[in-house]
Amino acid sequence: MANSILNGAENLNLISGINFHQSCFLKKGLVPYSSRNYKTKSFVPRCSMSSARPASQPRFIQHKKEAFWFYRFLSIVYDHVINPGHWTEDMRDEALEPADLYDRNMRVVDVGGGTGFTTLGIVKHVDAKNVTILDQSPHQLAKAKQKEALKDCKIIEGDAEDLPFPTDYADRYVSAGSIEYWPDPQRGIKEAYRVLRIGGKACVIGPVYPTFWLSQFFADIWMLFPKEEEYIEWFKKAGFKDVKLKRIGPKWYRGVRRHGLIMGCSVTGVKPLSGDSPLQLGPKAEDVQKPVNPFVFFSRFIVGAIAAAYFVLIPIYMWIKDKIVPKGIPI
Ligand SMILES: C[S@@+](CC[C@H](N)C(=O)[O-])C[C@H]1O[C@@H](n2cnc3c(N)ncnc32)[C@H](O)[C@@H]1O
Repeated sequence: MANSILNGAENLNLISGINFHQSCFLKKGLVPYSSRNYKTKSFVPRCSMSSARPASQPRFIQHKKEAFWFYRFLSIVYDHVINPGHWTEDMRDEALEPADLYDRNMRVVDVGGGTGFTTLGIVKHVDAKNVTILDQSPHQLAKAKQKEALKDCKIIEGDAEDLPFPTDYADRYVSAGSIEYWPDPQRGIKEAYRVLRIGGKACVIGPVYPTFWLSQFFADIWMLFPKEEEYIEWFKKAGFKDVKLKRIGPKWYRGVRRHGLIMGCSVTGVKPLSGDSPLQLGPKAEDVQKPVNPFVFFSRFIVGAIAAAYFVLIPIYMWIKDKIVPKGIPI
């Protein structure tokens, strides 16, 4: 236990599919110590983990302005193109299960809530009037506003790294598929901690980094694909306790994770004390007011969008493999 606290992952639970990658985890210093059932294994770290990322990863769409313009266009087709391939309703419900939304009166904030796809999963368990959807993209939020089931939600523009909620405000903090665009994910998770009340739970759902070289190449060009241990480290550093990670993925991938996943894990942590996070950070990494060279901005945007297109093709490729390869055989 002492070892696990020192190293940043008190309780890392992984769902089915992990056997494909257990060896990869072991290389990173994570050792299985028990298994509750055939589907679940728990891990504690064997040595300290670093979240340092090589500077060679350009991530052309991991700045707020870039994300803003990316979603200016993507919002038009988001629900029809992104969700069916990467973020299905059954994945969403599985990913929200650790958020423990057991009371309709809970106050929930959905950060980077976009078109409200995840919020639709939240309002199955919590009254919509208690849910706030926050996003930096008015275009994404315009889609959320059109959804009947979300008409009682509060819908506001804002920045995940600087939330407009008081300290100790919410019972649950949910953020799905947004962390990859935050220039400083640690700051966003520190904010999650601050806005939760004591005993409140954060649930961050996000991508995981590929292990296959070509997918790594495009992932590094597009945006941030954190490694599983990075999520754990960010949560622990922000002050969360009982940090857990649940693996998710489209059914037709049959547990394959080598191409990375746009929605690959659901990470939860509990706020143990009221008040702000014990973590001290310097000023924000990105000044959105700072003028940018339009040519550089446009070039980065186009290259990043092309890299993103690769990940539209991956679920189609996996779907075809799933259809062709007999069931029970790894794909
Ligand atoms: C992939 S979408 C996810 C939307 C929604 N949560 C879902 O599950 O479908 C990512 C969202 O994060 C938003 N976003 C990116 N950076 C943000 C930031 N710094 N603050 C708030 N929202 C942000 C984008 O505008 C976009 O709507």
